[in-house]
Order: sequence, then C-alpha cells, then structure tokens
Amino acid sequence: MFLEFVFCANVMVEGFCMGRDFGGGRAMSAIQRDGEGMRKFFQPRRLGHVNLVVNDVDRSMDFYMNVVGLDEAYRRPQVKAGFLSNGNTHHDIGMVQSDGPLGHGRLAGLNHIAFELETEVDLVAGYNRAIAAGVTFKRTADHDIAHAVYGADADGNEYEVYADVIHAWRDARHGTVTKAKPNWTPGSTPPHAEQNYHTDPEIVRRDDAIFHPLRATHAVLAVDNFELAFDTYHDVVGLTLLAGGREDTFAVFGGTCVERNLALFHTNGERQPGLHHVGLKLSDEIDLENSLKRLGDAGLAIESEFDHPARRGVFFRDIDGIRLQFYVDRDASIDALRGCEVETALFLA
Ligand SMILES: [Fe+2]
Repeated sequence: MFLEFVFCANVMVEGFCMGRDFGGGRAMSAIQRDGEGMRKFFQPRRLGHVNLVVNDVDRSMDFYMNVVGLDEAYRRPQVKAGFLSNGNTHHDIGMVQSDGPLGHGRLAGLNHIAFELETEVDLVAGYNRAIAAGVTFKRTADHDIAHAVYGADADGNEYEVYADVIHAWRDARHGTVTKAKPNWTPGSTPPHAEQNYHTDPEIVRRDDAIFHPLRATHAVLAVDNFELAFDTYHDVVGLTLLAGGREDTFAVFGGTCVERNLALFHTNGERQPGLHHVGLKLSDEIDLENSLKRLGDAGLAIESEFDHPARRGVFFRDIDGIRLQFYVDRDASIDALRGCEVETALFLA
C-alpha cells in the first residue's frame, strides 16, 4: 500500500524520473519505508550506467561518439578508461580496456551494470543491513562524485549500487581525470542526505553521429544461474519485478522510476552467458529512420530490425561485437511482455 503511494508520486518527465518531494524534506528514503522495502537492502531509482570491457578504449570512444552518438564526458587515460554521456548523468556508458589495469584481461563485454540510489544515506543504510544479513560485496569505492558498492551475481556479472554525492558533476568530470581514489567504506565519511541526481538534464545531440540516443535505459543479461541472479537483483539490489518471474523464462526489473532497467534470460544453451545487449533510447521513429539511412551510407549494417506494436528498434554490434539496441517505445507499458515468446521478450525487455 505504502509502496504504491511512493510509485504514484514518482513522475516521468521526458523520460527522466523526478522523485517528488514529500512535504518540505527530501523524497522518502527507500530505507525509511516499511513493507516490501524493508525486505530489500537497496531500492534504486533506475539504471545509472553500463560499464563495458573493450579491446581498445581510444577506438571504442571514437566509435561511441561518432557512430553510437554519445558525447565524451571524460577519460582516465592512466587506467585506460573512458566515459560517455549526453547529459543524463555523469556517464551512461563507461569502458575499460581489456589489457588495462581495470580490464584484468577479460574479453570484451560487460564490466558492470550500475544502479542509481536516491541518496548516500540510503547507500550506507542498505550496505549496513546487507552486511548484517551476511551479504558479501566485492569492493567499495569513493569516485568523489559518487560513492559506490560493488557485488556480483552467481554468474559473476558485476553490479554496482551508488549514490551521487555532488550535484554539479560536470565541474569534476571533464577532459582528463587523474584524481586518485581514496579508500572508503560506507559510513566512514558522513553520508550525504541530499538527492544529487539531475531530474531535468539538458540533453546534448551529436548531430554528426549516426545515432542520437537520449540515454542508456536498460541492460539484458543471459545467465546460467537464473534463480540465484533473480534473488540478487530482486532482494539485494532491490529492483522491482515488472514482468516474468523467478519461475518464468525471463524476468524484467525496474527501479522506483518504473521503467525497464534490467532483464534476465536463461542461457538455455541458446544464448551466450553475460551481456545480451544495452538499450539506448531514441527520441522518435523519424530519427531512427534517418539514422538507418546514414548507417547504410557509412557501409555499416544492423544485426536485426524489429517492428512491434509496443517498440520499434534495431540490434547493432559495436566494433568489439557488443550488442546495442536502439529503440523507440510506442507503448511504454509492460503489457506486451506478459506471456510473450522469449525471442519477442528479448526485443521488448
Ligand atoms: Fe560504474
């Protein structure tokens, strides 16, 4: 009942979720809620970013700027890392080079998926409750603009829950960033109580690029350990189930902004384990049509195209074979996902 009230009070503005204020103070903290909220450790608003392992960060940054259409936010050349955003948040896509210090020699694909919390107070409280319940995390980090906790699902896919700790991220994040990351554990510094995410950001459009995404909205994973992954993202990360289920062929989750942010599918010997795709939302179908013409003119090809009453879009592989989805929702409700075939759900998730 209380949770319903919280969801109804969240308003979608141009696709960005604005957490309304509840009577003079900040919006109600996830940790202050009772009911279902108290059985979860965190309660994210939405997907914040997807971080990728790539073979060559300079080549991939060029590709993501000139083809994918995201703007460079900043780079960390000392650790062979780059970050891109059209203004939605400090980075929608991050990337680390496979042979760099953060790549650990892994193959191109997922580094981690990150979920944005309301405040650092929520991050610290959720972390403390999770640790008390025996949850183990991989690491914690002070990124100076955000504080973060990292864990992994049973397949080894890494997730991050984080809270922005400053509002003016562009002041600290542009060009080349070399600042060292101090050791930090949740609660070792006084947690910030304010909401530092941007509810109505100005979105940059890279006109010369082929695609013009507004932001990254979702990630889709194929997992061997489906039930365990379900429990991790539902119970620990604290996402809300929107479609499918633990006993189903897929599960689609969202945060308090109530949009599709993460979907899990069984590998079932049919799909490679790991990242299936990253979803990038476009402004409208005319923009998509024009981008597809430009793509053809540039001698590049999509992997597949789909045209469904609820969503129009394409799958497209980046230079390392990482699959991206560019899409426009015709019906943003999750009704089309109810009872649909797995292959259709992969497009709609
Ligand atoms: Fe991250």
